[in-house]
Amino acid sequence: MEPREFFIEDRLERFRLEAFCNLGESGLSHFTMEEMLLLCDLHWKDLSQIPMNDAPNQGSFALRSAIAELYPGVTEEEVLVTTGTGEALYLAFQLLVRPNSKLALVWPAFQALYEIPQMLGAKIIKVPSENAFLASTWQLVDADLYVINHPHNPTGQTFPSLQWEQLLEQFRQKKKTVLFDEHYRFLPKGGGMGKTGVDPGNQFYGTGSFTKCFGVTGLRVGWLIAEKKFIKRARSFKDYLTHTVNPISERIALGLLQKKDRFLPVIQKRVQNNIDHFTSVWRDLPNILSFTPPEGGLVGWVKLQTGILSETYADKLYLRTGVFVLPGSNFEMEGFLRIGFGEKEDVFREGLSRWKECTDLI
Ligand SMILES: Cc1ncc(COP(=O)(O)O)c(C=O)c1O
Repeated sequence: MEPREFFIEDRLERFRLEAFCNLGESGLSHFTMEEMLLLCDLHWKDLSQIPMNDAPNQGSFALRSAIAELYPGVTEEEVLVTTGTGEALYLAFQLLVRPNSKLALVWPAFQALYEIPQMLGAKIIKVPSENAFLASTWQLVDADLYVINHPHNPTGQTFPSLQWEQLLEQFRQKKKTVLFDEHYRFLPKGGGMGKTGVDPGNQFYGTGSFTKCFGVTGLRVGWLIAEKKFIKRARSFKDYLTHTVNPISERIALGLLQKKDRFLPVIQKRVQNNIDHFTSVWRDLPNILSFTPPEGGLVGWVKLQTGILSETYADKLYLRTGVFVLPGSNFEMEGFLRIGFGEKEDVFREGLSRWKECTDLI
């Protein structure tokens, strides 16, 4: 068995580097190496001293400590450093999914969250995003594995605090495994650090990374959080894949996590400014029916007027303005666009102003 093509990737490959205004990406617009080193107070000289052997297979102890600190009660033994969140998800699914397992997740979804399980024989239960952020919805869903992507890609929705507590309590009572993909946890609305559902003792496992939220996707560092025995199995599986993360990425990742409180508020403000600006102008954009501002993360979901094909809209918009957005069809849901809020503020504003002028787009 092999997965189908990854629908968003073809378009991202074509446009992400050449688009004048990149709203297709789900990450913060990238920093240069120099800017990234400034963020974490590292100097070229520090990097030149890194021994170029393999990093430890599970990830360096220092990096695992910094990651463990992001989760209450989690220890270094419960952390596996991976090549991006993508690898952490792949490993978790390989160990958790059996043929005919029932896996429930919010729909629409980031494709890796259901494509890999489907390849492994899982039956996918799609929980529509309209009701998915109410705990009561999940009470009625019977699955072997629950995947909660929070904040959610592509809609940007999150659980309100009371619903979240209720959801966790329900899952504890169900005694089923839950995988929290908290890839966008560093960018909750209102600042600070987003909630986590991770609790390895209750089989609430987690995947995550900071690379999209910090604007350093090229670093390719992510992690899996689970109980010690599970991490041991996942590490053994990883030995056949990427084996280790390169020591330069590991060192920079550690620096960024150590210094995040200094630079993250600036990033959060920048993303929120873009969201606020979009919220104030979306009604002037052609053929857009509705938009609800995201409660976390870097992306939002925009509804098109009835009958408009998302790919046609995205293609015409790109041709006319250089503004790149992802069509809902890439998420197997027609009639929507996914908008990223990580672009530089001046480019974001200019992009929206060009978009607004396309009154005859369709
Ligand atoms: C929800 C979600 N999970 C996982 C990933 C994969 O992350 P990475 O690029 O770190 O492999 C992404 C990437 O966009 C994502 O949106």
